[in-house]
Amino acid sequence: MSPTGFDAVPVGPLDHVAIAVHDIDTAADRYRVLGAELTHREVVAGQGVEVAFLEVPGTTTIELLCPTNDESPIVRFLHSRGESLHHICFRVADIEAALAVARKAGVRMIDDVPRDGARGSRIAFIHPEALGVLVELKQPA
Ligand code: CO
Repeated sequence: MSPTGFDAVPVGPLDHVAIAVHDIDTAADRYRVLGAELTHREVVAGQGVEVAFLEVPGTTTIELLCPTNDESPIVRFLHSRGESLHHICFRVADIEAALAVARKAGVRMIDDVPRDGARGSRIAFIHPEALGVLVELKQPA
């Protein structure tokens, strides 16, 4: 227990910053101005999104999120907020352990149990009301 009265969720380095976009190719093209290179692309089944990862040399990864059907939550996001920051993601070594600590600290979660993310990762989202921005916790494959 820390002096603040709760244990901190054990997060690792920033894994990526995610931007919701209408079209992956158009957005990936625009990010070339930062030297970004598209290194991976996949449709995440069950979440209604296509994701693309762009590596910006010497910095971090940018994830582009694009809806693949009308029921995708990204459709609603784009409608209300336009193309903009969707979430930030911290790496965790053990997603179950991180969720247990978050639960104990009373953090409002979107996911109480991990779900499948891109590239075989296991992920869980912290509610944006908790930290002012949607935060993804990711245990890499
Ligand atoms: Co993400």
